[in-house]
Amino acid sequence: MIELQDIEKTYTSGEVVTRVLKDISFDIQPGEYVAIMGASGTGKSTLMNILGCLDKPTAGHYRLDGTDMVNLDDEGLSHLRNHKIGFVFQQFHLLQRTTALKNTLLPLIYADHYPEDAEELGEHALAMVGLSDRIDYRPNQLSGGQQQRVAIARALITNPSIILADEPTGNLDTRSGTEVMAIFQRLHQDGRTIIMVTHDRELAEHAQRVIVLDDGQIAEDHAVSQRRDAEAELAALVPAEENGS
Ligand SMILES: Nc1ncnc2c1ncn2[C@@H]1O[C@H](COP(=O)(O)OP(=O)(O)OP(=O)(O)O)[C@@H](O)[C@H]1O
Ligand SMILES: [Mg+2]
Repeated sequence: MIELQDIEKTYTSGEVVTRVLKDISFDIQPGEYVAIMGASGTGKSTLMNILGCLDKPTAGHYRLDGTDMVNLDDEGLSHLRNHKIGFVFQQFHLLQRTTALKNTLLPLIYADHYPEDAEELGEHALAMVGLSDRIDYRPNQLSGGQQQRVAIARALITNPSIILADEPTGNLDTRSGTEVMAIFQRLHQDGRTIIMVTHDRELAEHAQRVIVLDDGQIAEDHAVSQRRDAEAELAALVPAEENGS
């Protein structure tokens, strides 16, 4: 479980102080599917980097399964990151001269030990994203959607319980984006926790919960299905012919 309490992030460069995150608090339960929305520059990526232990907050507490991340040293942080968290970025960040399989295996190289059955694990991860027939292709031989699916396979290789995705469909056409969203849906059904930044309201509706940031603060935090239920209830209460005439 993820617990954020009074998280702040401030950048200081010379005289200029930028308060990017102000007083962010929320919990995310295991297995939740959460969309994070908000205008450009409101701190979504900053928040994701803190959630993913790539960056530390200036103040506040972040507990992951009870461990306070703020007090952990670099070694402890990278251990947690390698075991619990998988990342997917808008720019796929694949190594260009390396095959899909080897790209998928990269996180294992940084892990504590390289498993003997790494290649099988990689093939399995690529099969999960529908790329069994592209294992030996390099990124420039793959479509954008396929490259993002390699990036998802790479995020899955350490079998993380949490997947963090920062605008994973931002560089994809509608069809590839839909394919990627279907993969996230499946990962959610498998019981993984998914936290996804998106600018697209429709894509956010795939999640169970939407958190909207505005100027470094939480502007909204609501359940998606409940809101849909409320809309349905409202529609049932107000017959169409009584509407607006
Ligand atoms: N290293 C840094 N030093 C100073 N300011 C920074 C730094 N990194 C980010 N910022 C500022 O923090 C703010 C939030 O950036 P962030 O990348 O989190 O926004 P975002 O919500 O992800 O935006 P987008 O939707 O465009 O990706 C921006 O105003 C940015 O200029
Ligand atoms: Mg961003």
